[in-house]
Amino acid sequence: MNREAVGIKGFDILVQGGLLPGRVYILAGPPGSGKTTFGVQFLANGAKHGQCGVFLTMNESTDTIIDDMSQYSFGVPGFIKLNKLHFVDLGPMREYGYFERPENYRAADYETEAEAPSPRYVYEKIQEYIEKYDAKRIVIDSVSCIQFSSDDSAKQGKSVSRFIRNLKNLGCTTILLSEMTNPNAYTIEHFASHGVIFMHNFFDPGKNTMTRAVQVIKMRGTRHDCDMRTVEFSNDGIVVKGKIG
Ligand SMILES: Nc1ncnc2c1ncn2[C@@H]1O[C@H](COP(=O)(O)OP(=O)(O)OP(=O)(O)O)[C@@H](O)[C@H]1O
Ligand SMILES: [Mg+2]
Repeated sequence: MNREAVGIKGFDILVQGGLLPGRVYILAGPPGSGKTTFGVQFLANGAKHGQCGVFLTMNESTDTIIDDMSQYSFGVPGFIKLNKLHFVDLGPMREYGYFERPENYRAADYETEAEAPSPRYVYEKIQEYIEKYDAKRIVIDSVSCIQFSSDDSAKQGKSVSRFIRNLKNLGCTTILLSEMTNPNAYTIEHFASHGVIFMHNFFDPGKNTMTRAVQVIKMRGTRHDCDMRTVEFSNDGIVVKGKIG
């Protein structure tokens, strides 16, 4: 089977050369563990091979992400100019007080006036980029920022799986970034997706400092181990090194 290389040194070899195309993956981890960087590297590597990529952001402005990611060597500004890489802001664009002003009563960009985008809104945005630019790689930063309808947790779970099922039908290779502080708390998106990768950032008492690591938890159709490997940030972005322990 063909595989799509993520383009992260030391990572693709862990998953038989890359991700299976057209599938949906979860990349979960705590703050600063490298989720956004991993996602952008995946898109930049696709762009390098002619595939259009879209990064949908909800909790950071596109300007800030582009500035930060442009410091690395993987060519973000050039790919944006070539229309091979798109950063789309789906974050709460309304300032406090916006909806109180009469002229803005009907101006909500989302389906509702909710601050967070609905799954349908995110899905339709992706469709737009597929139609317009033939997008093949998608990153959503983050799934935790999507407004999954209900207060009822069973209904919410159904809404998450429905969203993932719909993404599977789009034909793009998709990575959903997910904020995670407890690595033992599996959630519905972990079960519903084709693959789950954990990024870690934990205190190592031996070194008296924080250690970053990556771990492939699940990857359907792929031989892999579940070991933790050290992650380092370099000028070329994330690099995966040796096993921990
Ligand atoms: N130019 C750079 N060179 C090396 N390392 C960098 C550079 N820019 C950022 N970093 C490292 O990357 C880390 C942030 O990574 P990233 O934004 O991918 O994490 P994240 O998991 O998305 O975090 P969050 O949950 O806050 O969104 C920083 O804390 C810093 O250590
Ligand atoms: Mg991030």
